[in-house]
Amino acid sequence: MLTVSNLTVGYGQSRVIHEMNFSLRAEEILAIMGRNGMGKTTLLKSLIGILPSRQGSILLGDKEISGLASHERVRSGIAFVPQGRMIFPALTVSENILTGARGPVEKSAWDEIYALFPILHEMRKRKGGNLSGGQQQQLAIARALISNPKVLVLDEPTEGIQPSIIKDIARALRQIRSARKIAIIVTEQVVSFMMDVCDRALVIERGRFVHEAPREGLSADQVRSLLAV
Ligand SMILES: Nc1ncnc2c1ncn2[C@@H]1O[C@H](COP(=O)(O)OP(=O)(O)O)[C@@H](O)[C@H]1O
Ligand SMILES: [Mg+2]
Repeated sequence: MLTVSNLTVGYGQSRVIHEMNFSLRAEEILAIMGRNGMGKTTLLKSLIGILPSRQGSILLGDKEISGLASHERVRSGIAFVPQGRMIFPALTVSENILTGARGPVEKSAWDEIYALFPILHEMRKRKGGNLSGGQQQQLAIARALISNPKVLVLDEPTEGIQPSIIKDIARALRQIRSARKIAIIVTEQVVSFMMDVCDRALVIERGRFVHEAPREGLSADQVRSLLAV
């Protein structure tokens, strides 16, 4: 679904992501685990085209997207849920969702989104800024889904969110994957969420993957020790 080869990304003179290689299978949920400052956001921003890559290739299916602008990548089928959610506080919930759309949105698409996140239907006329953190996270996911992506990319979706809502988000991601047959990449530091949601985990350290494991046979303690300083 997504094949990344030899990807190098940085800011000015400094390199943050070093010649990275990985691939994402069809309908796979891949977790990228790593502590603060290890390069998770930098990697995801380069996938989505917010940051240019220095070198390397990003194939979406068999299409090379590494030279495309961010909006062209969205059109090709990759959507992003940024760290911190980046909701428009003065727009209503439904207006926020529409900012992610690539064209007119059919009623069936609204129905699907609101079935997935009933709270967003309840609050559809409220301003985004009045939602709780967990509700804003669901809104950010809805905004990404409305573009009908083949690959959904989420940057630390559980950050600052209470445990009960974290469970809801895990459930929603698995439901989205099954219903839409899409692939998902999610960066995380919360081990329990990652254990709930992913099929495979990669551990990133200083811009390199240092460990890869399938979810099966992986224990939470193992992941915690891999993340430990
Ligand atoms: N805009 C920026 N300019 C320069 N360096 C940055 C910038 N954003 C992040 N970095 C550096 O890149 C490294 C990785 O950061 P980041 O990708 O945000 O990590 P993570 O998301 O894993 O916390 C850090 O050393 C950070 O200081
Ligand atoms: Mg980050």
